Amino acid sequence: SVFLQYSNNISTIMVRFLVLALLSLAGVTQTSASPTQASEPPNPTEEQPPLGTGSLSFPWSHLRLPGYIVPLHYHLLLHPNLTMLSYSGTVRIELQVQNNTNWVVLHSKGLRITTATMLDQNLAHLSDKVLPVLHNPTHEQTAIFSPRVLSGGQKYFLFLEFGAELGEGFYGFYRSTYRTSSGETRNLASTHFEPTSARMAFPCFDEPSFKANYSISIRRSRAHTALSNMPVQTVVLDDGLMEDRFAVSVRMSSYLVAFIVCDFRSVSATTASGVKVSVYAAPEKWQQTHYALKAAVKLLEFYEKYFNIKYPLPKQDLVAIPDFQAGAMENWGLITFRETSLLFDPATSSGSDRVWVTMVIAHELAHQWFGNLVTMQWWNDIWLNEGFARYMEYISVNATYPKLRVEDYLVDTCFAAIGRDSLNSSRPISSAAESPTQIEEMFDTVSYDKGACVLHMLRHYLTDQVFQSGIVRYLRRYSYSNAHNQDLWDSLANVQEEEFSSGEHCYSSRQAHLDLTSMMNTWTLQTGVPLVTVTRQGSHLLLKQERFLRTAHPSDPTWFLWHIPLTYRTDTSTSIHRHPMTTLTDSVEVGEEVGWVKVNVDMAGYYLVHYDGSGWDDLIQLLKDNHTALTFMDRTHLIHNAFQLTTAGRLSLDKALDLIGYLRSESHTVPLLEGLGYLEAFYRIVERRDIPDVTQNLRKYILWYFRDVIDRQTWSDKGSVSERRLRSELLSLACHLGDLPCLKQAQRSFTHWLDSNSTLPADMAETVYSVGAQEDTGWASLLQTYTHSLSETHKRKILSALASSRDTNKLTRLLELGLEGEVIRTQDLDSLIAMVARNPKGHHLAWSYVQKYWSTLVDKFQLGSFSIRNIIIGTTAQFSSTEELTEVRVFFESIHEQASQLRVTEVAMDNIQKNILWLQRNLGTLRKRQTQRDGG
Ligand code: BES
Ligand code: ZN
Repeated sequence: SVFLQYSNNISTIMVRFLVLALLSLAGVTQTSASPTQASEPPNPTEEQPPLGTGSLSFPWSHLRLPGYIVPLHYHLLLHPNLTMLSYSGTVRIELQVQNNTNWVVLHSKGLRITTATMLDQNLAHLSDKVLPVLHNPTHEQTAIFSPRVLSGGQKYFLFLEFGAELGEGFYGFYRSTYRTSSGETRNLASTHFEPTSARMAFPCFDEPSFKANYSISIRRSRAHTALSNMPVQTVVLDDGLMEDRFAVSVRMSSYLVAFIVCDFRSVSATTASGVKVSVYAAPEKWQQTHYALKAAVKLLEFYEKYFNIKYPLPKQDLVAIPDFQAGAMENWGLITFRETSLLFDPATSSGSDRVWVTMVIAHELAHQWFGNLVTMQWWNDIWLNEGFARYMEYISVNATYPKLRVEDYLVDTCFAAIGRDSLNSSRPISSAAESPTQIEEMFDTVSYDKGACVLHMLRHYLTDQVFQSGIVRYLRRYSYSNAHNQDLWDSLANVQEEEFSSGEHCYSSRQAHLDLTSMMNTWTLQTGVPLVTVTRQGSHLLLKQERFLRTAHPSDPTWFLWHIPLTYRTDTSTSIHRHPMTTLTDSVEVGEEVGWVKVNVDMAGYYLVHYDGSGWDDLIQLLKDNHTALTFMDRTHLIHNAFQLTTAGRLSLDKALDLIGYLRSESHTVPLLEGLGYLEAFYRIVERRDIPDVTQNLRKYILWYFRDVIDRQTWSDKGSVSERRLRSELLSLACHLGDLPCLKQAQRSFTHWLDSNSTLPADMAETVYSVGAQEDTGWASLLQTYTHSLSETHKRKILSALASSRDTNKLTRLLELGLEGEVIRTQDLDSLIAMVARNPKGHHLAWSYVQKYWSTLVDKFQLGSFSIRNIIIGTTAQFSSTEELTEVRVFFESIHEQASQLRVTEVAMDNIQKNILWLQRNLGTLRKRQTQRDGG
């Protein structure tokens, strides 16, 4: 390795001058030695003991960089070679030195640094020799030694020449490829830096609080286009070489820098405020860019109004990268996407594809303010980026595309958060993260989904008005800088205070800040989701709060306490009652005459509710008699609550099934899908446990239960987004359950599709393909179509169908193709593995595959990544026996070195434990209940 080549060969040199001279001759020094000491800023030479042992040792032992040197401005020049798949570069970094020192410590990973020099403010060299460069690969750091002391209070320029390969993976400056319809393979080069990969592309101070300006230049051939964060000025150099000089950027963090060299085509439009928006894609996918362009313009305009802060750059590019690991990345002015997250093909994209593309664009544009303009101080608070961006998806799309009814999906976000938060292995929203793996793993459902739901609760508590003014104040106050949680609470409390003092209330400023901070600390610094148990006692409701755990242990601590902005509705009025609950037990007066009480109105609060005594029976009766007395959100919430309590053993499955008895007269998509989702989940567990009687019973039960609503569906793309969503989910389940009318219709459609060159209704395509894929010829034709299709959303549907085959040889073949990465791209391998694992026939196959190719997978995706976590959860989430739990534990022990750095391994085991418990508790009920129905 390059890091080893010069190591340890300098230890015999006795005189310091000689050392330096030699190092200068060698040009580079590389050492693999891990740092030995140092915690304080390294001392200037004068105070250092003479380097009598003859070697310079790495001067810094911490994972985070010292704070005594701050980068101000980077001048970066890059010259990629898309044929040789490598690049060279130079960077000149203007530095502000705060304390005297001889060392500059910064990040670099896998780069060959060939020259290092230091210049003073007048660009005069400090030394006539090139400087020694030391590496500490375990911390991804590089140190440059300046024989002349750098004085505190002065500015300097560090100049570095470097080179590297255009990587195979998905991080740093990496290569991607695509094939044209004429069969030609073309390369492009693109970047992905967040959270800690800017250091793989160029040497930099790769931490979010080191904001600086960037002046980037890229050399390229005439046939290519270069893009970066800012707009460009092009200069022609000798030999027909072009140099694109991008305008100097605003102050920003290193993880937001981006550059791309490609031969893509684009479409452009200008927003009302004059920002040029362009969407780029591979030339033949150009037709699929139009929807994204419209949506991006609309959403950018929305955000400028909502935040009342102009988007500060003159342009915003959105680029579909053929090889991309995440869903999208918010690089300032140059957002990169996976193709399925940006491209919309009217012929093959479904209703939910449209929702997805809109939401992803909304998310990344929200980051241009939340994340780019104001950045969290450190990765422990990444929720300030991701929680906000997730929540803003709902606010902005709701305002710009009301027909998409995205508020219907907010419950899913909160339910996903609760799913994780009710396991022992959850974590607080703000949690310590130091190593790159730990930082990467912070991008999880807690930061995104719990973050968004807690913000949703806060908005309801403060009112839309105060919430909006508060976040605007926060964004203005911390623009081009960094923030902590407390800064957000203070900005919101400031607005609250102004509101109160303008009325007759006298609310002290100190009190406002204290109240809001102590409330929000219970949600962001504490793990878990609260369960409020409600008991009716005369005219009172008794309230009790505790942490909700699905796999509770007697030894679990009981000191959890939240400040819950409790709300409820009763049958005696239409108004929403509010009651802040800040103690473990509490009570409220509701009045004797009240019949039913529904707590947590429209599920705006992040807590579950259990109704003691006759509480659940009253609600079951209410749903049966008159379900529209409750909003569809409240109905959905009750279904969710009841089944969650069932999983935790707090409510019998019988009661939960009684509660959804009313669904036969439900017509709203959201509660229908919520109830159906639980039955499907139960089915999937028993299906793979080979418990034929219960499986058959449950199958009949579901089909009998939803017969009417299934029969009402047409095989088309007609209707509202909500109707289309219900239809595609219902019919997909019906066919999966082997419903004969469904299978027949699907077969007819598949044959028709094979014979004619027609396209299927996009919402039905996946279901139809899945039925067709069960026959050898159907499967083969689908694989053929997959190989040649130019629509990634279409390919995703086909891949899911291919992975639903009951033939294990075919599944093995798919997994092999995934590993090869030609026909099936590596970026899709994690979802392929999860798809195969969802298939009862592929379940164990997928798990063995993961064990066998574990280190290959980690090499491809990096340890803490979305993909690795998706693979672990995807392959283990359906296990439900103690044997399987043991097998998983043994495997994790065998990779202890890696597993111990990951939270997701704990989550996986908690999930299995939860399934085991669930089966033990409920198998009997599922069996018994069926018999009763058949008998009666
Ligand atoms: N900032 C993230 C991208 C990211 C993810 C960087 C993980 C580093 C690690 C981006 O804004 C994001 O959240 N992308 C999502 C899609 C989005 C619509 C939720 C993703 O990649 O899944
Ligand atoms: Zn994001």
